[in-house]
Amino acid sequence: MRWGIVAAGVVALAGNAWAQEPSALPFPTTCSGVAAARYQYSVSSTWKATKIAGGLRQPRSMIFDPQGNMLVLQATSGISVHTFGADGCINSTKTLVTNGQLNHGLSLTPDGTKLYASSVSTVWQWDYDAATMAVSNQKVVVQGIGQGIHSTRTTLVVPNKPNLLVVQVGSNNNWDMDASSINTGRACVRVFDMSAVPASGYQYNSGGWALGYGLRNEVGLAFDPNGMVWGVENSGDDFARTVNGQRTDIHIDNPAEELNYLGDPSTPSTNWFGYPTCFTVWDGSVIQDATLKTGDQMVVTSSGGANASFPDAMCAEKSIPPRLSFPAHTAPITNVFDADGTNMYVTLHGSWDRKPQASGYKVVQVPFTKKEDGSYDPVAAADSKTGFTDIMWATNLEQCNSPGLTVSSCFRLAGLVFDPAGSRLFVSSDNNAEGELFILGKK
Ligand SMILES: *[C@@H]1O[C@H](CO)[C@@H](O)[C@H](O)[C@H]1NC(C)=O
Ligand SMILES: *[C@@H]1O[C@H](CO)[C@@H](O)[C@H](O)[C@H]1NC(C)=O
Repeated sequence: MRWGIVAAGVVALAGNAWAQEPSALPFPTTCSGVAAARYQYSVSSTWKATKIAGGLRQPRSMIFDPQGNMLVLQATSGISVHTFGADGCINSTKTLVTNGQLNHGLSLTPDGTKLYASSVSTVWQWDYDAATMAVSNQKVVVQGIGQGIHSTRTTLVVPNKPNLLVVQVGSNNNWDMDASSINTGRACVRVFDMSAVPASGYQYNSGGWALGYGLRNEVGLAFDPNGMVWGVENSGDDFARTVNGQRTDIHIDNPAEELNYLGDPSTPSTNWFGYPTCFTVWDGSVIQDATLKTGDQMVVTSSGGANASFPDAMCAEKSIPPRLSFPAHTAPITNVFDADGTNMYVTLHGSWDRKPQASGYKVVQVPFTKKEDGSYDPVAAADSKTGFTDIMWATNLEQCNSPGLTVSSCFRLAGLVFDPAGSRLFVSSDNNAEGELFILGKK
């Protein structure tokens, strides 16, 4: 997935993060004044979906405040806030922040008092008042973020340590060789203490601490119920593998997109996840010079060529492989856990680099389990190709084509968040033709 440029992340506060007990709103089958869904889609037989808003501007991220109001980051526009009526539909909308630079990251402390949002270069903080739905006291808290083809900076408050802010930055290109250094401040995730922000904000590359690097573009970050971070990664495009001068195009089904375990955000981590050297196999059958299965890591280069000084086996030694893989080019961009950590949900924004058959353009459910030691882990094994099930998907996948990040002939599912009661799962499409919001619920 090449264009992080408009893309974005998501901010999901777990449904159990709220101080007061939220009341569940009904699941409407239709909302008055909302036009029909712009693109064809289906949902699985155990789920239902309703479009609840249209005509938005590239909605990338949604979050809820403690009063149950929904904040939406609309890329190139700003942040809006929406209230709900007793029927479960939106009954008022107002602009909270006007800022055309905002493009993805949006998060709120669990008490609802500090709001964060990001542009390509900067993270801002505001004081937020849920009762009046107003912001004040805007300030820069992180700045100097490097630029390149990936422009979104997923920005998340740590729910159980709300003074900590996690900020993600992707690589500056498909191949960003300098990102092999942790000091580059790209293809990495960093954490900043908001109780000690320098007067002009942290410099991204030197402030705070690392929570892993070698993460090509970890657009989606989510906290499991223990507060541990799981990232979903957009991997490389147009890959070939060359062995003894023989170049094989492997890009249709490789490399895999990834689900990575980043761990405890309060503990600095220099774990290396492989980029720009080690990539993950989705379909090993097209790599005929080696026996590699889904989830194994391999070496490739843009010019092709398994790297003699750094063979596949060294990836297994030095790089942390994903815990689970997704098909190539599906472009996972937001992930969120349900309140008890039984499932993680992911939006797969969809492909441009896989023709003729597109991939992604759906929401998937990844079953998790709580292990004896209390940690959360996917149910599926690391070499599984079936560690997730489809919840909502574009029905005309053959025709889905995305010549630009938000220009597409299908919906482009982006933001994902549960409402405070934890029963309604909100998903946005940031297709430039029409920004849409849907709710998903179990039947
Ligand atoms: C929206 O509905 C809520 C709940 O019924 C109500 O309290 C509120 O006044 C309504 N707002 C508007 C603008 O209609
Ligand atoms: C081989 O891998 C090493 C280690 O990442 C890297 O420094 C070198 O540039 C790579 N060579 C090629 C041809 O990619």
